[in-house]
Amino acid sequence: MRIVLLGGPGSGKGTQAKMLVEKLGIPQISTGDIFRAALKEGTPMGLKAKTYMDKGELVPDDVVIGVVEERLSKPDLDKGYMLDGFPRTLAQAKALDKILEAQGKSISHAVLVDVPDEELVKRLSGRRTCRNSACGAMFHVIFNAPKKEGVCDICGSELYQRDDDNEKTIRERLGVYNKQTAPLVQYFADKGLLRKVQGVGPIEEIFARIENAIA
Ligand code: AP5
Ligand code: MG
Ligand code: ZN
Repeated sequence: MRIVLLGGPGSGKGTQAKMLVEKLGIPQISTGDIFRAALKEGTPMGLKAKTYMDKGELVPDDVVIGVVEERLSKPDLDKGYMLDGFPRTLAQAKALDKILEAQGKSISHAVLVDVPDEELVKRLSGRRTCRNSACGAMFHVIFNAPKKEGVCDICGSELYQRDDDNEKTIRERLGVYNKQTAPLVQYFADKGLLRKVQGVGPIEEIFARIENAIA
């Protein structure tokens, strides 16, 4: 199963992807996570990506497509994967089609996690992320609080607030999503692949909706 997770910043793509990894045993490929890991290692690609991420803008298509192409050539993807945060532009969607076509493969579903903008702002403002990139769990100070403040329930590492989770950058990311990424909803609908899931409510309920949508 090759799934695309679509949805605005903070819609819960990462949260749901991590649960799907457990359930389906297929890896999550998050371009945002790849860039943050590259930045932590101090690679030129990571440093370049940071200049865009800090402003809430998209990293240029050629950089992102190169990263994804390399990732999709790895041997751990036989059973499928989930793309979290990619594609985000029409050019990326078309590049993905090309990569898959060359592999004789295709996307099975594009799941849209649908959440209103104001709810997204609340979610991102209170998000806390695990510093251990191998874990990367997400919490929320109110909606999904860790058992112990500032500590990851899963691996015990420190929780931090992402640099782009401040109100100004959040608004910018929302604008970018609505302008550049939202058109992909129609793109996947035209291919008959779109599964729209209501993304407001308890995390477990949304997970059940997604499971239904891809069953
Ligand atoms: P990326 O890392 O992909 O960020 P994003 O799209 O802005 O999405 P988020 O990770 O912020 O949100 P999410 O949907 O994963 O929500 P989460 O599960 O954490 O991208 C960051 C940047 O990298 C971009 O701005 C861009 O610069 C660059 N980039 C990445 N990919 C790119 C690409 N393809 N092209 C170009 N540039 C790219 O949940 C959010 C919060 O809500 C958490 O606190 C969580 O606990 C809480 N929550 C989750 N579910 C619920 C619920 N049901 N109810 C209440 N709270 C909930
Ligand atoms: Mg995420
Ligand atoms: Zn952790």
